[in-house]
Parts: sequence; structure tokens; C-alpha cells
Amino acid sequence: MWIERCACVLGKNLPEQNVLEKLHYRYTCPAREKGTYLPQWLWDSCFHAIVYRWFDPDMAWEELQSLLMHQFEEGPDTGMVPHMSHLAENGALSAQQLFQNKNSSTITQPPLISIAALAVHKKAPNKNILAKLYPKLLAYHDWFDRRRDDDHDGLAAIIHPWESGWDASQRWDSLMGLHACTKEELFELEQKRKNLVSILAAHKYDAKTLAHVPEGFYAEPADFNAIRAADLMALAEIAGELGKIAESRELEMRAKAVQQAVHDKMISFKDGELFVHDLLGASEEKSAVDHAGKFVLLFCQCLSASEAESISLQLFRSADCYATPFRVPSTSRFDALFNPKEYWRGNVWLPVNWLIWRGLLSYGYKEKAHTILEDSISLVQNSGFCEFFDPITGKAGEKYGQSCPRNQSWSTIVLDMVLDSEQIIEGKADE
Ligand code: GLC
Repeated sequence: MWIERCACVLGKNLPEQNVLEKLHYRYTCPAREKGTYLPQWLWDSCFHAIVYRWFDPDMAWEELQSLLMHQFEEGPDTGMVPHMSHLAENGALSAQQLFQNKNSSTITQPPLISIAALAVHKKAPNKNILAKLYPKLLAYHDWFDRRRDDDHDGLAAIIHPWESGWDASQRWDSLMGLHACTKEELFELEQKRKNLVSILAAHKYDAKTLAHVPEGFYAEPADFNAIRAADLMALAEIAGELGKIAESRELEMRAKAVQQAVHDKMISFKDGELFVHDLLGASEEKSAVDHAGKFVLLFCQCLSASEAESISLQLFRSADCYATPFRVPSTSRFDALFNPKEYWRGNVWLPVNWLIWRGLLSYGYKEKAHTILEDSISLVQNSGFCEFFDPITGKAGEKYGQSCPRNQSWSTIVLDMVLDSEQIIEGKADE
């Protein structure tokens, strides 16, 4: 039943025939509803591939190959994988104008491509494709080290909130200079995000410079770096699969260095409780905004058993910040600007739930992981494959009062949670 339902959502989100004809490989739009989200998005496609691997591995491989079609091949940002691509094929004029680029955006998104490629390979082994992807995935991570770690502390910086994937989150309000509450303020915040693109271009996308420009944006997000560590670890495994043993060892060491940096610079303890911090600006100010990205640290396994225990308790204590009827709200429900309905201001996003669910499993918290799975299933059963959900009512979230799409491709990630859990029960899970 789940396979049919998810395949149907993804199938309906394939690009129009006239767009497909122009593509080298097929990909899936995040949502075709209302004409929004037609180009390819980076982390969305990683989640799509993880879903497709269960019933259409050819499509899973195409989705990933398509994602790398517009990887930058020249200039200082060689290796960068853009967060939006296939703009020209879709006639996405406003995005082309915004980024002053024909084919793609000029910024990235959470790096999950090696994780997705490895997951697909485990279900539908294909060393030929893996070997084709490998140098590109390596170039992507080399780009992070070269261009986004100017202080060489092992942590990657983002230079635009869109790069975090958490576009409108309270996490970025202080750097954006606006703690938005009303609809007008939220709209103004979006305008600021658009304006920021030309500031990045004016400073040649140079993170080191942007860290010191007053109107720039520079942040080292905890979850983004946790994902990157996990992605490097997956790339190490891919290198191993391809028989590149020395490279595999080196990648593993790079992954461990990022894990260590996340651990050493991004967590703190107060009264025995673990806190996780994004680091903001060149001074690496520890952000105090409490958000669900902290649980993603479990995903990269950079926490000790007692640290993992502390953080996983915070997810389930009834009086705590995340105890909403449906978990996991993106922002603490006690945040002064918590808004359960509004885009990234306190909603449940199933891909984030997937990251947390996987992290819990990797620390052996099977029951807790199951609770996240059950909440995710209830949301879809009650409201469909919404882009995001209100954690209190379980209904579709909203952007400036408009309901979000109800057939969002990445919300099919619930399929991976369901099928993988069945395999765990049968003792056959591959990860
Ligand atoms: C929104 C989300 C972003 C996602 C994109 C496509 O911009 O904030 O994370 O990748 O939509 O679904």
C-alpha cells in the first residue's frame, strides 16, 4: 500500500514531457502542484532516491546523476553542487535572474548525496554508476574544505539561509537582522533572503570575505555539519566498494575530524543537560536558539552514549520543548517566535524526522525511533504528503496564510521509514 501511494506522488511530480525531453537523466520535481517547485532541488532529490530504491532503482540512480549535471566545473567554486538545477529546461526565469545564471543556482544545500548513493547501491548495486559518481562526490567535499572552511576548524559554513535547507527558521533571524513575527515581517524576511543573493555575488561567494561583511551571512550550522560528517563517512564506504582502500581510509579520517569538530565546538552542558549550538558569524557566536536540528547530531554519531541519552530524552520528556502531539517541530514550542503553522517557524518536516529517526536507531533507541515513525505515519494518514505539518493539529502547514503543497515528493520518505522498520523487525536491515 505504501509503495503504491508513494510511487503515485512521485510519478505525478515527474517534469512535463517537454521538459523531460530536454534532460539527460530524469529527476522528480519537489511539487508540481500550483506550478511551484519545478526545478531539481539538492537534498530533496537525495530523499527521493532513497525512496525510489525500494521500487524503482533505475530512477533512483537517474535522480542522483541528474543532480550532478550542473555541478560547477570551473572557477573558484569548482565542485560545488547547486541547490537548484535545470532552471533553463523549466524556463525558471525569476530564479535565473536572481542567481544571474542560466542553469542553476549558485549556492548549495545539505550534502546528502553520498549517503543517498550508498543507500541506493545497497539495494541495487551498480559499481559502474558509483564509479562515475565518485570523483564528483569527492570534488564536492573538496570544495567544502577549500571554500567553506576558511578557518580550517573542520566545520563548513553556509553563506545563505537557503543553504541550510531551513530557509525561514528562527535560527537565522539574528543574522538576517529581523526577528519576524507578523505576516508582513515574514514577508520582509523573504525579501531580505532574495536581496542577499546579490550581496553574495558582489563578494564572489567568498565565505571568508562574507564573514566580515556587515550585510553578509555566515553561519556554521550544527545539523548541516553533522550531515556532512555522515556524508563523508558514506563516501569513504563508497571508495571502499570501489576498491580504493587508501582513499577510503583518508575519507574516514576526514569524516571523523568533522565529527570531532561538531562535538568539540558545537555542544555544551548546563545542569547536566546537553545543548547544541549553531555558530554564527566570524566570531562563531554560540546561538541559543533551540531547534530540532540538534537531534540530527545523532545522525552523524558524534555523541557519546551519555550525550546521546541526554539529547534523546529532550525529544520525549512530556514537559519539554518538543512534546507536541506530532513530533518533531522544527523549533522549540517555547520559543517566543514559535509558530506551528508558518513555514519553518515550528513545523514538522518529514525529511528532518527521517534524519532524527535514523540517528535514534544508530544509537539503539528502537522504541524512540518507532515513536517518530508512528507520528510521521499519522501525519500522512490524516493530511496527505504535505510539504510540512502543523505539530499541534497535524494539518498542512502554511506560508503567509497559504496552505503548502499536499503532494510534496520528499514527504514520501516515510516509505523508507516504514519498509526499513519492517526489515529491522525481520533482522534484515542493511544500514
Ligand atoms: C523549500 C525548503 C527547502 C527545500 C525546497 C524544495 O525551499 O525550505 O529545504 O529543499 O523547498 O522542496
